[in-house]
Amino acid sequence: MCGIVGFVGEDENALPFLLEGLQRLEYRGYDSAGVAVVQENHLTVEKRQGKLQRLVEALTTTSVRGSCGIGHTRWATHGRPTDQNAHPQLDCHGQIAVVHNGIIENYQTLKAELMARGHHFRSETDTEVIPHLLEEYGGLDDLKTAVERAEARLTGAYAFLAISATHPDQIVAVRRSSPLVVGLGERTNYLASDFTAFLRHTRRAVVLDNGDLAVIRPWSVEIHDANGVAVERPVLHIDWTLDQAERGGYPHFMLKEIMEQPEAWADCLLGRIERGRVVEEALGLTAEELKAIRRVVMVAAGTAYHAGLVGRVLVESLAGIPVEVDVASEFRYRRPLLEPGTLVVAISQSGETADTLASVSLAKEMGLKVWAVTNTVGSTLAREADTVGYTYAGPEIAVASTKAYTTQILLLTLFAIALAQAQGRAYPELAEQVLSLPEAGKSVLSAMQGLHGLGQELAQHRDVFFIGRGLDWALAQEGQLKLKEISYLHAEAYAAGELKHGTLALIEEGVPVIAILTQPELADKAISNVLEVKARGARVWAVVSANLSGVPADRLIPIPATAPLLAPVLAAIPLQLLAYWTAVSRGEDVDQPRNLAKSVTVE
Ligand code: F6R
Repeated sequence: MCGIVGFVGEDENALPFLLEGLQRLEYRGYDSAGVAVVQENHLTVEKRQGKLQRLVEALTTTSVRGSCGIGHTRWATHGRPTDQNAHPQLDCHGQIAVVHNGIIENYQTLKAELMARGHHFRSETDTEVIPHLLEEYGGLDDLKTAVERAEARLTGAYAFLAISATHPDQIVAVRRSSPLVVGLGERTNYLASDFTAFLRHTRRAVVLDNGDLAVIRPWSVEIHDANGVAVERPVLHIDWTLDQAERGGYPHFMLKEIMEQPEAWADCLLGRIERGRVVEEALGLTAEELKAIRRVVMVAAGTAYHAGLVGRVLVESLAGIPVEVDVASEFRYRRPLLEPGTLVVAISQSGETADTLASVSLAKEMGLKVWAVTNTVGSTLAREADTVGYTYAGPEIAVASTKAYTTQILLLTLFAIALAQAQGRAYPELAEQVLSLPEAGKSVLSAMQGLHGLGQELAQHRDVFFIGRGLDWALAQEGQLKLKEISYLHAEAYAAGELKHGTLALIEEGVPVIAILTQPELADKAISNVLEVKARGARVWAVVSANLSGVPADRLIPIPATAPLLAPVLAAIPLQLLAYWTAVSRGEDVDQPRNLAKSVTVE
């Protein structure tokens, strides 16, 4: 997820607008930033690795004036955060500039083709193929036609803006899956990843549809749909405050990030499953490397550790390879016995968690290969590991991890299937079902309105128990952490079969128990555990897969039926929302819970 902005007007205010717009979009990415402005028939381009402030400082001594320009704030996906990889990306002669959000799946093929035709590439990004394609297709003469022709060559989910030195009064914009909106001003028009960037200047906006191509001039907005037909899109009046707009209209980043999950899952899966097979290289691993793995050890902290617990069940069930999962702060000090043939999987959203990094150093000292599962390109973990699989969830701002967790599980699911493929066992049906998860996620989100009331109810209690078996137990552990960390209620997760070995003593009249039942094989056993707690007076709320019946709960929270191994990502959503609504009901600071930090870079 990156932020893009564009300005085309009759006065020369492009630069101040671009910097202001980027500042508003910085929450979408902040590892580098850049702008390009058309000035007297040439492009002035400035970009800097690091926070936007570095770019602003670099521009204070220049006198860039222009009435057409584009800008970008980056959350790296392809290529480390460096000045060269920052956007805008340019053609060979620096006369066409492009800013881009999303992923161009087939960039390697296009890059090879363009290089063979003599194009000179300067970055490691997927984006750079676009300005070179525009150059190839005559973008300096007719930018719109060049964009149409280039777009026909691209696969992936993205949005981009293109300008050229020879078109000082137009921006050509394309939206395919990634968001893009147009702001309608007085003899000035704006483009941005979301309304926040231009709300201070105009509240009239047009949301581009998937497949739209738009030519924006100071006095006109021309939109063509995916079939090239000229269309009118409705003009909206946006009455959000700036603060609301930054959170996409949601009251908290956590809720925004929960709601963004289907989109994050689609980004995470993009280009990773083809014809029923996981593309090993798209995980950062080769088929040969996977074939050599005899044992897997996963290390991580907090929520990422809980993703590892899910990953263990997936890898052992699908690939039949033994897995251990360890909390990084324990692993690093317990002198683990690791033999050759072990792959260490380090899972971390930030890629900066001190204990996880120390575990990676230890594994490397022992001569083992480390595969990182992280959301952060250019993080220490991404640099230290031998190889990396990115989760592509986009920046996660709320301290409580939500979309990073479910994308970690998705990537581990793909890893489990890839490992099985290396053993000669393919799972084409399962791989295809993985692709349907983003749609299923949307239906879970739209069915969860009632959880608001359950959160209010839960907020009245002091202790909450989460129970489940197998994958559901792994998920229960994440459910209790989410609730604890933002609502400050005391919560515990138990393997449902363990209750009678002690914890059952704590169950008394009215105690809330959240039971998770998504695994048909274990359903009968889990149902008896529900009966056990109910018999002691517990009030049971059950997150249940729609294909399981007869669960004797006080309240059922159904999720769509899917392959049991894929249920965790769907079942995670009601647990996240339950924690969210409980914390809101208690009036807690949801996005920044007390005593916690987003990234724990100290021991
Ligand atoms: C909980 C949470 C933390 C992190 C943990 C590891 O919601 O976010 O438990 O999961 O601090 O952080 P990363 O994944 O950045 O290594």
